[in-house]
Amino acid sequence: MKKSFIIAIDGASSTGKSTLAKGLAKELDFVYVDSGAMYRGITLYAQQLGWLTTTHFDKEELIAHLDDIQLTFANNILLLNGKDVSIEIRTMSVSNGVSQVATISAVRAFLVAQQRTIGIKHNVVMDGRDIGTVVFPHADVKLFLTADANIRAQRRFDELKPVDPSATFDAILENITQRDHLDSTRADSPLMQATDAIAINASDYGIRALQKYVLKLVKKQMGS
Ligand code: DC
Repeated sequence: MKKSFIIAIDGASSTGKSTLAKGLAKELDFVYVDSGAMYRGITLYAQQLGWLTTTHFDKEELIAHLDDIQLTFANNILLLNGKDVSIEIRTMSVSNGVSQVATISAVRAFLVAQQRTIGIKHNVVMDGRDIGTVVFPHADVKLFLTADANIRAQRRFDELKPVDPSATFDAILENITQRDHLDSTRADSPLMQATDAIAINASDYGIRALQKYVLKLVKKQMGS
């Protein structure tokens, strides 16, 4: 069987990873996997069952029930046990809980196994925090995106406002800053640039220019 081609895009939240990844997947006819959505799906599940609230987190209960959680993508929409949760996983409530869930090694192992299975079967563009470092250390192309925190918060605010009218720019900026800290200081698979990843400051590019630049890199690597 021919080895699939893997493009790993890592970086902090709202650096434009998913827009870039989606665009590349469409252009190349690859499968797009939003790994952050998977962590968000598990967070939503834990919140729905009352295991994760603003004041307590019953990690053991979540770990014991991981096998009850089925996450699938249908046209880039996340289904949690068959239900479309694409809107719920973007709310501030999920954003505020997700980094705690992402520190749990059992959750990470559960999701990394699923992410690798997708990568065995398909050519993929996957975005996240540990794709080039842990999930696919031998990815064909690895990118690490950065962007100014204010630009990132504005981007998230523009996306979120229509679905969560209670969202404010300041609350989003605080959430982003806090998640950056939690995601890059956790013990298991922290957010960091793989030594062989290409660092890109997304603030330097418009979306089209960024995609064009990356497509060139990818095609060079593909030898076409
Ligand atoms: O990309 P995002 O902001 O939707 O990701 C949500 C959270 O999930 C993020 O704060 C950290 C976690 N995450 C992770 O730990 N590893 C990944 N590969 C993707 C996301």
